[in-house]
Amino acid sequence: MTSWAVVKNSDQPAQALALRAAESADITPEKYAAANPPKGADILVRVSHAALNPADLQFMKVIPTWLPFRRGAVPGLDFAGEVIAVGPNVASVAAHAAKPLTVGTLVAGCMSVPRVATGHGSLAQYVSVPAEMVSRLPSGLEGAAQGGGNASASLSTAVGFLGCAGQTAHLVINDAAAVAAFSVAQPRVLINGASGGVGSLLIQIAKARGAYVAAVCSAANADFVKELGADEAIDYNLHAPLHTYLAKTFESQPFNLIYDCVGDQQLFSYSASYLSPNGALISIVGGPTQGVVPFVRNKLVPTFLGGTARTFKILGMMPSGERARGVAKWVEDGTLKQMPIDSEYKMGDVVKAYEKLATKRARGKIIIKVQE
Ligand SMILES: NC(=O)c1ccc[n+]([C@@H]2O[C@H](COP(=O)([O-])OP(=O)(O)OC[C@H]3O[C@@H](n4cnc5c(N)ncnc54)[C@H](OP(=O)(O)O)[C@@H]3O)[C@@H](O)[C@H]2O)c1
Repeated sequence: MTSWAVVKNSDQPAQALALRAAESADITPEKYAAANPPKGADILVRVSHAALNPADLQFMKVIPTWLPFRRGAVPGLDFAGEVIAVGPNVASVAAHAAKPLTVGTLVAGCMSVPRVATGHGSLAQYVSVPAEMVSRLPSGLEGAAQGGGNASASLSTAVGFLGCAGQTAHLVINDAAAVAAFSVAQPRVLINGASGGVGSLLIQIAKARGAYVAAVCSAANADFVKELGADEAIDYNLHAPLHTYLAKTFESQPFNLIYDCVGDQQLFSYSASYLSPNGALISIVGGPTQGVVPFVRNKLVPTFLGGTARTFKILGMMPSGERARGVAKWVEDGTLKQMPIDSEYKMGDVVKAYEKLATKRARGKIIIKVQE
């Protein structure tokens, strides 16, 4: 099978990655499935599309390639494709009891972190995944697809929606602090990093929940976030430092909820001026400097010692089929209307695709067309 492999720890994709070509070019999906039958409640998926996530770059850089389970580790979290074989126990998977998965079903989802950490990522022609982890493709994808409603566009759209970005949006929208914020009359929401994979979905969901949405992005993405439904775009370059502008502009009309998809510590430190006392800031950006240290400072330092008198949360998403199916429902009920796709690359051009991701300038998702 053709797949990408992490061959060296590096933050330079060209050094970290190598393409492993299939030993035999003419092996059919049927032959591959016969030689690699899925076990238990797993399904074998012929991947048509994968999507890239910033976390992939961390796996590439950080998990040592000398570990036995990282030799030739396949990167990638998100996948969409066709089921080509089912394990003997798939029929008993409760999540799909109403409509069991069978050969030919189109599915999408996000691989579990342990599977990717142990080298079984989605940038491969075939993946074996627990049936529980996937969602069927939702109806209504044709309307949400960029560039038409053919099968390939639907799969490309599905991998963007139901993968890591959509599941992260599902996590942070359903968090208790967010639910409380959306329950006030005319909720006001600020989204930092609004034009990225996660932010572009959060705009749509917050609008569907009746919120006034202010989207922070560069000037180049102002029209883009407004097309997704944002009521206003805030250019973080023009209005630097952002927290000063927010304090000046929104003190009399504070936000009920702030989503930080960038990892701007000052956004929370100064938030008492533009976040309502009952509001919360939910961050999805972690790491030694942006995650652990702010977590301790933001959660534990009391106000009289300089702490900020607002609720701070930092959330980490563990992929699940339940979340993928929750996002699928949002597509079906019209909560999510568009899956912005920054760019689509061929399987052979994965290095270029990761280099684009690493610029942090993607507008929506970067998709890999695994099957040509
Ligand atoms: N906690 C979790 O479980 C979880 C899950 C998913 C993602 N994440 C993290 O969340 C972050 C966002 O993920 P993503 O997939 O949405 O990333 P992404 O798609 O790569 O984000 C790219 C976007 O970020 C914007 N951006 C870059 N710098 C910015 C700044 N200073 N201010 C405002 N916007 C800025 C860019 O817009 P402009 O070009 O307009 O600047 C671009 O559109 C990443 O750090 C990722 O690792 C965490």
